[in-house]
Amino acid sequence: MKTSFLLLGLPILGWAYPGMLGVSSREEALEFLKEKREAELEERQLLSGLIGSVAQIVSDVSGLLGSVASAVNPDNKRPEPGYVFQAPKSSDSRGPCPGLNLLANYGYLPRDGHVTFDQVIEATARGFNMGADLATVLLVFTILADGDIPTQSFYLGSGPGGIGGLNRHSTAEADVSPNREDFYLGCGNNHHLSSRIFQQNVYYAATDSSKQFTLGVMSKQWAANSKFSVKNNPYLYYFPFPSIVATAAYNFYPQFFSNGTYGAGGVANYESISSIIGAQFDTKTGNFKYVPERWPAKGWYRRSTPYGAVQALTEAFTLIYPSNPISMVFPQLQGGNFDAATALCYIYQGINSITPLALAGEEQEIGAGVTWALSKLVGAGLDLTTLGCPSSTLSPNEFLYPNATQKGGPLNPPASVQSNVGNNVYGKTYFTSAPTKPKCQHSS
Ligand code: HEM
Repeated sequence: MKTSFLLLGLPILGWAYPGMLGVSSREEALEFLKEKREAELEERQLLSGLIGSVAQIVSDVSGLLGSVASAVNPDNKRPEPGYVFQAPKSSDSRGPCPGLNLLANYGYLPRDGHVTFDQVIEATARGFNMGADLATVLLVFTILADGDIPTQSFYLGSGPGGIGGLNRHSTAEADVSPNREDFYLGCGNNHHLSSRIFQQNVYYAATDSSKQFTLGVMSKQWAANSKFSVKNNPYLYYFPFPSIVATAAYNFYPQFFSNGTYGAGGVANYESISSIIGAQFDTKTGNFKYVPERWPAKGWYRRSTPYGAVQALTEAFTLIYPSNPISMVFPQLQGGNFDAATALCYIYQGINSITPLALAGEEQEIGAGVTWALSKLVGAGLDLTTLGCPSSTLSPNEFLYPNATQKGGPLNPPASVQSNVGNNVYGKTYFTSAPTKPKCQHSS
């Protein structure tokens, strides 16, 4: 009785003393409290419908794999003989990309998570049928921004000493990810599966007539995630290249994780998706534990045709992004006239706005890194001439974070963030509720 009286009294105190709520007037305090209440109701409504639906979908999906077997070529069965699942050791580097984490868990990539350009081109084609042009675009930015150019290598999670690797924010990793929290709101934890976001994703799949993680379902996921980030994350940074990776990653769910080819008899069902992204449902709590990524035990077939850069960009910006367009430094989107070749041209030109990891280097070395990256794109058939880009806009001397090593900068984050940027730790549950303010403690 005492407790409920106190709880009831708190909003009144906030109204009487607006300063307590961090606002200056009573009107603002009222608005603040109203919004808070609405957000709480919204979340409660979503979750109450959700828990039952998760139990429902778990039973609904069992047995769906059988329907795929007739539509697939046995050559596409994965893993192939000789590639065996092993959970990563705590010293192995794992991070925000479920596709690459999984390939390392089977030995398609080095199990320690330190990988090279050529290894990734080969493994992503073999394991998931990713087109070489798409893999090249992802890799050049990643190696330039998060890796080591002389050895053409990078770490799947955090690099040695917490420097570099895919976890590094706003380089290849970005906010508004399908199933990870934003870097700021997650207090640096941008790389573990978020239980509450995946609950939301399962809810959209369960309430869709397909009962699958279709492109339509993933577009609802984008709309919800981007609305949440725009509302709560004052440091939402939707920078051209990583924003493209994060948006295209929504299509990767059906296109790469389906059992069989999506759109040609394959199923993007719960059983396949949850196993590949390492989401283990706890029937008691309704939460998802993050476990090492693996292919479903009952048998899994990769897509039968390559999925390349043009299809990835087109689907990302015509099917996913329009469900909630947010401000993005990507001129192609302003006129609503999207065309993949021009977008690729923009990506090509955008290389110069990436902060290379080798920041301590001389300007000349940085320029050399950009030259390396451009030559790789040319090698994959994506060059200025093919794409029709005006070369005049290329300048290797403009970088967005000239002071990256200063306190609070991307290479020198605050201590609370520092403790969250290491490699993935599996077997735990992360984010059982939405972090509307930075959440610096992990649940377990
Ligand atoms: C070719 C090299 C690749 C690189 C460099 C790469 C890099 C990344 C990065 C940096 C992220 C984080 C993006 C974000 O913040 O949302 C990411 C996420 C993701 N990647 Fe990859 N990736 C690669 C290949 C793949 C492949 C082959 C697949 C699928 C088979 C894949 C599926 C995904 C998905 C689904 C996410 C979103 C995870 C989530 O938030 O739920 N990636 N990847």
